[in-house]
Amino acid sequence: MCGIVGYLGEKNTKEILLSGLKELEYRGYDSAGIAVLQDDNFESYKAVGKLVNLEEKTKDFTTESFAVGIGHTRWATHGKPTELNAHPHLGESSYVVHNGIIENYAELKKQLQADGVTFLSQTDTEVIVHLFEKNLKDASSAFEAFEQTIQEIQGAYAILLVTKSEDKTIFFAKYGSPMLVGINAEGEKYFASSDTPLIGHCTDVNYFEDGDYGYVDAQSIALFDKEGRKKEPHFTKLSTNKLSAQKDGYRFFMEKEIYEQSNVITDTLLGRLCEEEVLFDELDTQLFDGIEEIKLCACGTSYHSALSASYMFERYSKIKTSVEIASEFRYRQPIMSKDTLFVVISQSGETADTLETLKMAKKAGLKTLVICNVDNSSMVRLADACILTRAGVEKGVASTKAFATQVTVFWMLSLYVAKLRDTLSQEELSRQIKLLREIPTSVKVEDAMHERIKRLSKRYLHGHGFFFIGRDLFFPLALEGALKLKEISYLHAEGYPSGEMKHGPIALADPELFTIALLPQHLLYEKSKSNVEELSARDSTICAISPLEFDKADDFIQTKKHNDYMLEFFEMMVVVQLLSLEISVRLGNDVDMPRNLAKSVTVE
Ligand code: AGP
Repeated sequence: MCGIVGYLGEKNTKEILLSGLKELEYRGYDSAGIAVLQDDNFESYKAVGKLVNLEEKTKDFTTESFAVGIGHTRWATHGKPTELNAHPHLGESSYVVHNGIIENYAELKKQLQADGVTFLSQTDTEVIVHLFEKNLKDASSAFEAFEQTIQEIQGAYAILLVTKSEDKTIFFAKYGSPMLVGINAEGEKYFASSDTPLIGHCTDVNYFEDGDYGYVDAQSIALFDKEGRKKEPHFTKLSTNKLSAQKDGYRFFMEKEIYEQSNVITDTLLGRLCEEEVLFDELDTQLFDGIEEIKLCACGTSYHSALSASYMFERYSKIKTSVEIASEFRYRQPIMSKDTLFVVISQSGETADTLETLKMAKKAGLKTLVICNVDNSSMVRLADACILTRAGVEKGVASTKAFATQVTVFWMLSLYVAKLRDTLSQEELSRQIKLLREIPTSVKVEDAMHERIKRLSKRYLHGHGFFFIGRDLFFPLALEGALKLKEISYLHAEGYPSGEMKHGPIALADPELFTIALLPQHLLYEKSKSNVEELSARDSTICAISPLEFDKADDFIQTKKHNDYMLEFFEMMVVVQLLSLEISVRLGNDVDMPRNLAKSVTVE
C-alpha cells in the first residue's frame, strides 16, 4: 500500500529512486512521483498510472553530483488517482512523501486554509508539508519545525521530507507504516518501505520503530524516539542476495508464482520434518504451556488459510480454535483470556488491521505467534514467536504461493501441537508426515491440466456470478478460489459451503450462474455430490473439480487420485488459481496489478 523511497548521495538520484520504486510498485500503482533537490533547485515529476509513465516523463532528467531525492508510488486513499493527488506534495519550498493516513488532516487543513494556505490536492498528505512550512516560519531550524509537525499530526505514517531550508538533508518519521534506512561505506543513505530496494546498495539497515523520527545528512543519522529522546540506530546486516523476482519467461508473476509452489513448499518443509514428528526449532515448546485455545486472526487470503487451519487444529490437535477477520476483531471489544494463543497470519507482516490485533493481544498479555512470509516485518518483530513460511518474494497482488505455504505451515503446526498434546497415534502422525512430503508433487502444474483449464476458461467470461462451493476444509478453499477470481477478473464470485446453498443462494440458479464445485474423493464426497446435483437440477452451469468422474456437470476438470483429502486440497488449490488466471488473461486484465488493489494494505 504505497511505497516510499529516499536517497542522499552522489550517484544518479533519479535512477536510484526509480529503480527503488520499481521494486515497490506492486504495493500501489495508481500514480508515482519523485522530487530531487540539488544546489537549491528542485526538480519534480509525477505521472498517473504505472511507473513506466513516470520513467517516460523523466527520461531526459539526470543528476551527476550530490543530491537528495524522495519518491513514491501510490495506492489512493484520500482523493482520486490523479497527477495532482500523486506524491511528492509541494509546499512553498519543500516536498513530502507519505504512506499511511493522517487522521486529523481535515482539522489541520481547515486551520491552514484559514491562515491563507492554498491546497492543490485532495490528499491528507498535503497538510504535512504546509504544516511544516508554517512551523518553519517561527522555528530556529528546519528540524525543530519538522519535530513540531510530527507532534501535531495523528494517524499512521512513514514520511520523508526535503526542504530548501536544509538542502542537504532528508527528514523522516515513522508511526504505524513500515520504513527503514540503509547505509554503505560510501556514506550514501537510502530509505524505503521495505528492504528489497536497498539490496545491492546498502550493507546495513535500521528498521524504524513506531514514533521514530529524525534526519540524515552526508555525515550522520540523527534519530529520536517518540518522547523526543535521542537514540542510537540499531543497524543489522542486509542480505546481499537480490531476491527481487523476475518473470523468468512466464507471462505474469502470478503464473510464475503458481508454478513455483512446488519448490517453495519444499523450502517450507525443509528441516522441519523427521519420520516421527514435526520440528519447529524456532518455537519454544513452552509457548503452548497452559494454552487451551487458539485464536487466529488475519485478512483476505491469509484469513482463508487461517480458516483452513481451524479445521486442522480441532481435528488433529484437538484444541478449540476460532478465527477472526482482523478488521472486525479490532473494534468489537473481544474477550481475550490468557489461556489463548493468539496467532496472526500475514504474507507481508505489515497489514494494518492484523498488526493492530497483534498489538491488542500483546497488551492483553496473551502469548502471540506470527505465521509470516517477510522476515523483519513489523509483525515478526512484535510477536513472541514466529514461523516463516519461506515462500520467497510474492509480487502478484493475487496471493498464491503465500497461501500454499501458509496452509503447509498450519498442517505441520497442527501435527506439532498434536504431538505435544498427544492427540494422534504415532502411526497416524507418521502417516501424516509422509503425506506432507507429497505436497510438492501434488502442486506441480502439469501441461495437460494447464492446457485444459486454458481451453475451458473461454466459457466463463460472463454470467451473473460464480459460486465456488466446497465442504469442510474445501470451504475455505472455495472462499479463496472466489477471492482469486474476483480480484483479477472483476467478475462477481462468492465462496460458499456446499451444504448451505439450499438455504438461499440456490434461488439464483440458472444457466448463467456458474458453480465451481470442489468434490474431493476423501472428504464428504457423497454429501458434496448431492449438493451439486441440487444445483444441476436447477440448470446452474457446473464446472466440477474432482478425481472421480461426475456426469452431472457441464464441464469437468479431473484431478489426480490421492490417498488423502489434504493432497486433494493442494491440487485443487492449483486448479482454482489457474482458472482465475486464465479467465483474467482472456478478459485482457492486468493479472499482476489488478485495478483498485495493492499488495500490502498498510491502512485500515
Ligand atoms: C490476496 O490475494 C489479497 N491480495 C489480499 O486478500 C491479502 O491476502 C490481504 O490483504 C492480507 O495480506 P497479508 O497476508 O499481507 O496480511
